[in-house]
Amino acid sequence: MIRQGKAGSIINASGALGGQGYTGSGNAGLNNHIQNLALESRLKIPLLFGRDVIHGYRTVFPIPLAQAAAFNPGLAEQAASVAAAEATADGVKWTFAPMLDIARDPRWGRIAEGNGEDTYLGTQMAAAVVKGFQGWDMAANDKLVACAKHYVGYGSAEGGRDYDAGEISEPTLRDVYLPPFQAAVQAGVGTVMSAFIDLNGVPATGDRRLLTDVLRGEWGFDGFVVSDWDSVKELVNHGVAEDEAGASLVALHAGVDMDMTSGVYLKTLAHSLQNGRLALGEVDEAVRRILRIKHRAGLFTQPLTDPDRAVTAMLTPGARQLARKFARDCMVLLKNDHNLLPLQGFRRILVAGNFVHARGELYGTWTPDGDPQDVTPLSEALKQVAPANVELWFANSLEEAPNLAQQVDAVLLVLGEHPSRSGENSNVSDLGLPPGQAEFVATMAGLGKPLVLVVFAGRSLAITRQVAQADAVLYAWHPGIEGGAALGEILFGVEAPVGRLPVSFPRVTGQVPIYYNQKNSGRPISADGEFKTRYVDLPTAPLFPFGYGLTYTSFEYSNLKLSAETLRGSLEISADVTNTGARVGSELAQLYVRDLVGSLTRPVRELKDFQHLVLNPGETRRVSFVLHEEQLAFTRANGSRGTEPGVFHAWVAPDSRSGLRGEFRL
Ligand code: BGC
Repeated sequence: MIRQGKAGSIINASGALGGQGYTGSGNAGLNNHIQNLALESRLKIPLLFGRDVIHGYRTVFPIPLAQAAAFNPGLAEQAASVAAAEATADGVKWTFAPMLDIARDPRWGRIAEGNGEDTYLGTQMAAAVVKGFQGWDMAANDKLVACAKHYVGYGSAEGGRDYDAGEISEPTLRDVYLPPFQAAVQAGVGTVMSAFIDLNGVPATGDRRLLTDVLRGEWGFDGFVVSDWDSVKELVNHGVAEDEAGASLVALHAGVDMDMTSGVYLKTLAHSLQNGRLALGEVDEAVRRILRIKHRAGLFTQPLTDPDRAVTAMLTPGARQLARKFARDCMVLLKNDHNLLPLQGFRRILVAGNFVHARGELYGTWTPDGDPQDVTPLSEALKQVAPANVELWFANSLEEAPNLAQQVDAVLLVLGEHPSRSGENSNVSDLGLPPGQAEFVATMAGLGKPLVLVVFAGRSLAITRQVAQADAVLYAWHPGIEGGAALGEILFGVEAPVGRLPVSFPRVTGQVPIYYNQKNSGRPISADGEFKTRYVDLPTAPLFPFGYGLTYTSFEYSNLKLSAETLRGSLEISADVTNTGARVGSELAQLYVRDLVGSLTRPVRELKDFQHLVLNPGETRRVSFVLHEEQLAFTRANGSRGTEPGVFHAWVAPDSRSGLRGEFRL
């Protein structure tokens, strides 16, 4: 088929194919062999080799949700750049990333692959990651073509069930779900993937309004759209096409240029042309878009990969160092009673739980090219970082742990989700810890020793009881190849935590969907009287809000100042931040805004900006944000986008539920 010019791209390119685990060098050679077959075809159009390079290639970085917790798009850009350098060395030229789906329901397993619940953070990460993958010139031999996915609304699947249908109102779609994709387009993303979802009754793979009118018409996207796996053929199951020929026509007409894997374009489009159901111009247009990206990716001038580059490009010391920093910076300290962390003065510590010997388990979902052998197991990594006079004991089961715990000074529990419990099609109905782990925590807590709980997970779990039982809780997500050392550095105080939650943490499963930028309702919880928006058996607030995270010192905010009472063009909002603790520390100052009255109801808060500040003990620094009028724009009642005059609140805050509040007019 390749020799006859009947294949245009290869999915799961490189030797590992669909399997897990790095297959070693030689992949470039295999791809070059396949590429040479394409160059024998009549038109000599090179193949595009695509693969899911999601959070690293051989060097596995934290899962995307964890990356978002670092609130540091610059780090995400660097990580994507490393992934591009490694993947291209193996002959991969196209990655199916970044995943830009806003997720408000952690039951959905794919929350692990995105940037969480916030649109502003999502747009910052989108632009950074596209830049990291593609650079300024995607033809460079160490750059990849990126793919913004899954367009769009995929995270709204009902009940958190992957592939299920969703409903999103037009204003919410425009203000919450679409902006990260628009940011990717503005950053020059080469391709976009249509989602599996049936959104508002129109399967995303057949939605001409979104794929053509919005994506190309409004935003000017000129790359190509690829369907998701089999999603063209699945239009038949959705019930918007009678058969494969009909499905192909719906998808192509909607603006899907390339059919991923289902093969129905190849099977049916020629016939549809012959019988007049399809105009050749539509096929030409899809082909033109794909050729444009192949051309932009430099394939016509440089179709082959240097087979020797893989030897030096993989897993460089610099890449590992970056992975270590990223892993550290994404971990979120949720609780630290009596400053139990960093661990100090304990001679003997028991480390217990199912992650004690974790290697590949630290990778998380979507790591077909990560080799577990590259990971120093948690037990080893912690020993390497622990001070010389600290003895570490290990136990991975509940049977052995309690006895050993009697003989130590403190207990460190390392628990959580196996990578296969999050990611595609790995949804849960219960957001508690996996079976057996709650008992583990309860038993260990009952022993009365100082207890640190470290949770590894691909989502926000409902850990209300465990947070109450442990003295300190650190959320480590799936931190990647350097996760063990990074964890050790935080636990033993070599470095301090800086991560913040990119998602609200529910108290129990029944509290989802939960997100900070909700609407006020007519009867908010702050209203008088009994009849208000609440549960009778649960507080309405999340266990931990979006933006929350502690570190080894404390901060105070004071002296909020707005540069004017009225915003004309822009406004400066500033506050003093003081390090009130005894250690150097990093604070993430966040700017939130609320538009009090609109032609449509407005969220109770929206993140508009953030800044990291590193302060010495006792030091005070003024943090200052400039808010521009266009940052207040939204989709108005008449469907147009813009601002509306009126009163606004602004907060400079350490998280989405607290901070200093000021007021201005527009
Ligand atoms: C997933 C995509 C992925 C594709 C190719 C699909 O099942 O939904 O995210 O890029 O497979 O592997």
